[in-house]
Amino acid sequence: MGTGWVAQRVHLPYISASSSIDLAAIVDPDPARLRSAAVAADVATAPRIGGLRDDLDADLAVVCTPPDGHASAIAECLARGWHVICEKPFVTNSHDARTLISTAARRGLALRCCQTSRFRADVLAVAEEVSSGRLGKVRHIRLTWRRANGVPASGGGRSVGALWDLGAHLVDLIWALSDLGDPTDIAASGMRLSPQQALRLTATWQGEPGEGAGDPCLAGAAVHLGFCTRDRQCGGTLGHRGSS
Ligand SMILES: NC(=O)c1ccc[n+]([C@@H]2O[C@H](COP(=O)([O-])OP(=O)(O)OC[C@H]3O[C@@H](n4cnc5c(N)ncnc54)[C@H](O)[C@@H]3O)[C@@H](O)[C@H]2O)c1
Repeated sequence: MGTGWVAQRVHLPYISASSSIDLAAIVDPDPARLRSAAVAADVATAPRIGGLRDDLDADLAVVCTPPDGHASAIAECLARGWHVICEKPFVTNSHDARTLISTAARRGLALRCCQTSRFRADVLAVAEEVSSGRLGKVRHIRLTWRRANGVPASGGGRSVGALWDLGAHLVDLIWALSDLGDPTDIAASGMRLSPQQALRLTATWQGEPGEGAGDPCLAGAAVHLGFCTRDRQCGGTLGHRGSS
């Protein structure tokens, strides 16, 4: 579902190259995008899922629509009885996330978010260092993403902004690199930027205090995500536990 940038640059080439996956159908409301996906003639195409045959023989859907449409797309795919891989950011509120996860579980279907950054060579190298114990216990992580092209434009005018689009990678990487556990509170804030401005996103994770560590900064665990431009900055606490 969705044949834009990430589908055409990443998913469709991998699907075509795989000998274990057959492409059954592609769905996109934009006829030009559907045409430019240039798939084989026996692949069904439709502007929306409802336009596909009810008896379409498919097992798995890959959702590559703009983020604000992920929740409804996933719901439609699960209703068809398909396993789902959805591009990041998974959905844009926790109610949708919980509902979809429990729907998938009830139906015995797999539902995964495509967090590709976890599998980058540099991230895998750092993860290996952390899990080997060679670095000792990790107490603080700070990740920064610098982007020259401003707010990502996935979804065109329907962009959900930098915190959701890029922040999803950073927060996921913190989870992948640390044993953070579930935060007890979640909040975030952001501001709209003009598309031309370079931006910098930073995510930090503060771990538990060490034995005897009197540093108040280490009292608790928190994830803070913020971004700044040349003259402005903003951010919010995404989650914390303990006393920080
Ligand atoms: N993992 C990564 O590194 C990575 C990189 C780029 C984008 N992404 C993610 O991929 C998703 C798509 O981004 P993009 O850059 O390809 O966006 P895009 O705007 O280039 O493409 C989105 C496509 O979805 C189509 N679409 C819209 N509503 C639809 C619907 N209901 N059903 C089917 N198709 C629909 C649009 O017509 C468009 O062709 C976003 O969630 C984005 O965050 C991930």
